[in-house]
Amino acid sequence: MHYVVAAVAAISGFLFGFDEGIIAGAHGALEREFGITPLVNGIMTAALPLGAVFGAAATGRLTQKFGRRRILYAAAIAFFVGSLLAAGAVSVWMLVAARLLLGVAVGVASMAAPLYIAETAPQKLRGRFVSAFQLAITVGILVSYMVGLAFSQDDNWRLMFAAGAIPAVILFLGLVPLPESPRWFALRGRWDDARTSLAKVTGDHANVDAAIAEMRAAIESETGSGTIRDLFRPMMRPALIVAMGLFFLQQLSGINAVIYYAPQIFREVGFVDQAGQLLATIGIGVVNVAMTVVGMWLIERIGRRRLLLIGFGGTTVSLTALAVTIAPGGGDEWISLAGLAVFIAAFAVSLGPLPYVLMSEIFPLDVRGAGMSLASITNWGFNFLVVLTFPTLAAAIGVIGVFGIFAFMCFLGFVFGHLYVPETRGISLEQIERHIRSGAPLMQMRPA
Ligand code: BGC
Repeated sequence: MHYVVAAVAAISGFLFGFDEGIIAGAHGALEREFGITPLVNGIMTAALPLGAVFGAAATGRLTQKFGRRRILYAAAIAFFVGSLLAAGAVSVWMLVAARLLLGVAVGVASMAAPLYIAETAPQKLRGRFVSAFQLAITVGILVSYMVGLAFSQDDNWRLMFAAGAIPAVILFLGLVPLPESPRWFALRGRWDDARTSLAKVTGDHANVDAAIAEMRAAIESETGSGTIRDLFRPMMRPALIVAMGLFFLQQLSGINAVIYYAPQIFREVGFVDQAGQLLATIGIGVVNVAMTVVGMWLIERIGRRRLLLIGFGGTTVSLTALAVTIAPGGGDEWISLAGLAVFIAAFAVSLGPLPYVLMSEIFPLDVRGAGMSLASITNWGFNFLVVLTFPTLAAAIGVIGVFGIFAFMCFLGFVFGHLYVPETRGISLEQIERHIRSGAPLMQMRPA
């Protein structure tokens, strides 16, 4: 059953990716229909991450109060309504409003789904399961690029947005047979429900009592009230720094300058016709999916830390290479495509999934909602800033200059990973919690 839970929760990742990526394909058609300025372009694109900041901010409390699964239902409804509103938009501002609503849904999903998956996954495969959420994001991005290409001939941006309503319905229906997270029942003191849910999810009746006892011990050692204030206690601070720091660095790697604006970047470096730009964009989407699969395999094999350092190393080198080899004004379209592909590959194998995996592992249960919420606000806040400012910054200092800044941030990410990110592979959520509560340095965490 945990495979089903992960698969259904991952559909919200698909929607996350789809709604991020669809703007890339729709942009040309929207520009022709509404004649939008660069500023409006930035606002329309950034409305999604802005809505997501609000969604992520609300989700911590909501998932603690109502459970993980019920909140995903609400997200499915918002995805459905938002897609239809965007498809029927009669003005740019209505589209901005629809994308804000979709953004709220994306923000909710980006936190509630990894939380639900991590809490129901078998310990040995937890990293891989949460990474499946990231895989779904990348598949969503790729499909949105393909939908964009399919409807770009006749500029049918309405159908591009409407397509997002289909996975929303699938998510809603998929949630019906699933149980709530056993750890949420435990948090509410509903031990019988926790036991039933755990047995249903794992299918392993023999070990249910031991797992429940471990959850009970973890909860009994909790002293706080699960609020944001608890997160700032000295004991919790290192976990908060890791989760927020990783998302800050993930976004400042510049990933979404590429994901949202790929066709426009390709136009700038020399792909002249729209079909060529969209095809190159699809190439990027394919690399993103393929390398995420490789990352899912590596994460339980070489562990989180090593994978993170490989990722930051790879993105630093590829962005630096791009910044020094591309001539301003274009003409090197194939070198740019290759450089961007290497960058995306290094991101996808590592910086894509790891912040989601670590944020859902590293917080003790009582502050998990609040901690993941702050991490997700960081994720979307910086996603918003990068996406909003990229067109203006690129116009001011050139795409190459902006890539130079991103390269430097990736280098900082390497240093941060080396200094602060612990290895959590093969350690149960309850063991991680015990370690944090003991006050021992995070970096000393080891499997029992
Ligand atoms: C990031 C998104 C990004 C996506 C690209 C995710 O991990 O949070 O902002 O668009 O990866 O695959």
